Amino acid sequence: MKECIFITGAAAGIGRETARLFASRGWFVGAADRDEEALAALQDELGEGRCSTHVMDVVDEVSVKKGLADFAERTGGQLRLLHNNAGILKVGPFEEISLSAHRAVVEVNVIGLMTVLHAAFPYLKATPNAQVVNMSSASAAYGIPDFASYSASKHAVRAMTEALDIEWEPHGIRVGDLMPPFVNTGMVQQNEQGSRLFERLGVNLTPDVVAAQVWAQVEQPRLHRPISMQFKALWPIAKSAPAAVTRGVLRKLWRQ
Ligand code: NAI
Repeated sequence: MKECIFITGAAAGIGRETARLFASRGWFVGAADRDEEALAALQDELGEGRCSTHVMDVVDEVSVKKGLADFAERTGGQLRLLHNNAGILKVGPFEEISLSAHRAVVEVNVIGLMTVLHAAFPYLKATPNAQVVNMSSASAAYGIPDFASYSASKHAVRAMTEALDIEWEPHGIRVGDLMPPFVNTGMVQQNEQGSRLFERLGVNLTPDVVAAQVWAQVEQPRLHRPISMQFKALWPIAKSAPAAVTRGVLRKLWRQ
């Protein structure tokens, strides 16, 4: 069996570009998403032999377990790389966003991540050199105004990453995350107000750049060390400034 990757949120944006990149490099891709129609389009594009698709909602344990079991059937139980990418965003003044919308952000970004990690563990453990790449975000480094619940959820992703990287090391599983700033995808296009801040910060990445960062993780000996470097390289202000200065810049830009 060739190398294989399982990607959540694979039907759009960063996940879809990652699926395309890994498939083009000969990997077998398990593409999971709750958007059935977009998944079918991806399957058509990549072809039966290079991709399997799995309709799942990451917060629904039953669909997650089924998706991973179906994938493992195709790969002989192997899961070399798990890319936990599914996520949602709500942008705006904290008090103007409903509590149920804040709750949904935490459910998908945090509980969804845990649900997939929990179900994937046996397959990761059974695979030599298994790796996990979670999607946190630049908003996991600072509390970003108007992104309060999203920022809080991505801090939780960072903490999960650090904890499991140590906890799962004896099982031979490496766990890391990526912290990109503003990436031009459907997620931010739907949030014009929120993308304002990142535009002012001068960052506007395309999803293929982030997909290439996922690929780079495959070649890293340890995941957690290069990540902050990578984050700094992608975000010009953070590159040279200490955290307090970056926070000051954020405050000023947000008030403009
Ligand atoms: P996107 O909105 O373009 O794509 C997200 C995909 O996840 C969609 O196909 C959607 O159907 C799927 N999805 C959402 N909730 C799901 C659920 N409960 N179960 C299964 N699938 C679900 O988003 P984008 O921009 O590609 O983001 C991907 C990841 O990268 C997210 O975790 C996001 O928080 C993170 N990220 C994005 C940044 C950006 O500026 N776009 C920056 C930093 C991190």
